[in-house]
Amino acid sequence: MRPAATDRPTPARSSTNRRTFLKSCGAAATTAALAHRLAPAAYAAGSDIIRVGLVGCGGRGTGAAAQALNADPGVRLVAMGDTFKDRLQSSLNNLRQQAAKDRVLVDDDHQFVGFDAYKHVIDAVDVVLLATPPHFRPQHLRYAVEQGKHAFVEKPVAVDGPGVRKMFDIVELARQKKLTIVSGLCWRYHYGMRATFEQIHSGTIGEITAMQCSYNTRGLWVRKRQPEWSDMEWQIRNWLYFTWLSGDHIVEQHVHSLDKTLWAMQDQPPVRCSGTGGRQVRTAPEYGHIYDHFAIVYEYPNGMKIFSRCRQQNGCAVDVSDHVFGTKGRVDVFRHTIYDWKGNVIWKYRGSKNNMYQTEHDELFAAIRKGETINNGDYMTKSTLMAIMGRMAAYTGQNITWEQALNSQQDLSPPEYDWIDLPVPPVAMPGITPFV
Ligand SMILES: NC(=O)c1ccc[n+]([C@@H]2O[C@H](COP(=O)([O-])OP(=O)(O)OC[C@H]3O[C@@H](n4cnc5c(N)ncnc54)[C@H](O)[C@@H]3O)[C@@H](O)[C@H]2O)c1
Repeated sequence: MRPAATDRPTPARSSTNRRTFLKSCGAAATTAALAHRLAPAAYAAGSDIIRVGLVGCGGRGTGAAAQALNADPGVRLVAMGDTFKDRLQSSLNNLRQQAAKDRVLVDDDHQFVGFDAYKHVIDAVDVVLLATPPHFRPQHLRYAVEQGKHAFVEKPVAVDGPGVRKMFDIVELARQKKLTIVSGLCWRYHYGMRATFEQIHSGTIGEITAMQCSYNTRGLWVRKRQPEWSDMEWQIRNWLYFTWLSGDHIVEQHVHSLDKTLWAMQDQPPVRCSGTGGRQVRTAPEYGHIYDHFAIVYEYPNGMKIFSRCRQQNGCAVDVSDHVFGTKGRVDVFRHTIYDWKGNVIWKYRGSKNNMYQTEHDELFAAIRKGETINNGDYMTKSTLMAIMGRMAAYTGQNITWEQALNSQQDLSPPEYDWIDLPVPPVAMPGITPFV
């Protein structure tokens, strides 16, 4: 679901469009006035405009913006922000070619570039879509919640212990303020998955005795460094390969698998983990300093274990799958199928199919219209911490508890947000790299 970006130039929209839009939504409205209109039941008639902004105009952000526009006829995309103008422009060009293009009303003075772009976008909207690299998520969501804005929040939601702690506080504040937070952990919005996890929770396989999850895939994109780029620009453009930005691929990608194990456990997290990992194939400088494989075992107090692995190496077998084993049977989660221990199928999902990415936005905007609140903050933060905890175990070679990971003092933030020199950290070495 990553729409292809296009570089085809499109003339910038004139400010007349924005004026027309503001007139059509009856709003010479200030942010405060519109925020007030977001009070429960304000949208009951389905006739009000909901202003949406995008922060992080890459593949996923562009997709999320298109899905928000499709979710509700009253949605208008009115502001966009990115660290780079070219990324913003190509996303905007793309959105202006989609079916809902008439509702893309981002005029020149609502296209924000730089590290503080998020503030300007959030100030201008009712709902913000946060789709930058995950390092920035706590900073961006905190501002959104403080300003009283609803949010769609891509996974993962932090890269280190301090970020996770901030996130737990922010989602609690959102709960108190009755703001909706929909997570980009999209499988939670997939009908077949929802039915499968209902079966697990209702006891069809008895008590869970073990789980296995894999995100073994090929390598992802890499952006070649250009001579004019500072270290900071190169790292942000090539963000997958720097732990401070992505959390490493166990956090950035495998969080989807770990979140499903957390879901099976009704969002009760494991107490400790141990694991291994390394960097065998992607050793060139363009791959920064992250690993290309991890294998982590998570443990629950009753001894139940989750055997988890992820790999990003070309030329190897792909295996993206999740399996839950119980006293009465086992679940092939991706096939939405349950077997007894003789191998007979005892349940299979045969219901309707959906586009989970679209459903995320359908449910987000439906909740806003109804004056209801969705808050996915608890599980999105816990599954992020599960992934960070696994990374910590592999990087250090130590057994790591949930409490240790949560209370870790290791803050991966750069010294400042500017186009500075930023040396690449050394590759973590188990037994040598300390737990901090
Ligand atoms: N749910 C899913 O299935 C799914 C799929 C893909 C990506 N994602 C997640 O979405 C997020 C974005 O991934 P992507 O594939 O779109 O990456 P991307 O590189 O295509 O887009 C990220 C964009 O954010 C911009 N950016 C970086 N720092 C910024 C900042 N401080 N402020 C504003 N903009 C900034 C970048 O310039 C870039 O345009 C990641 O967290 C990723 O894990 C989720």
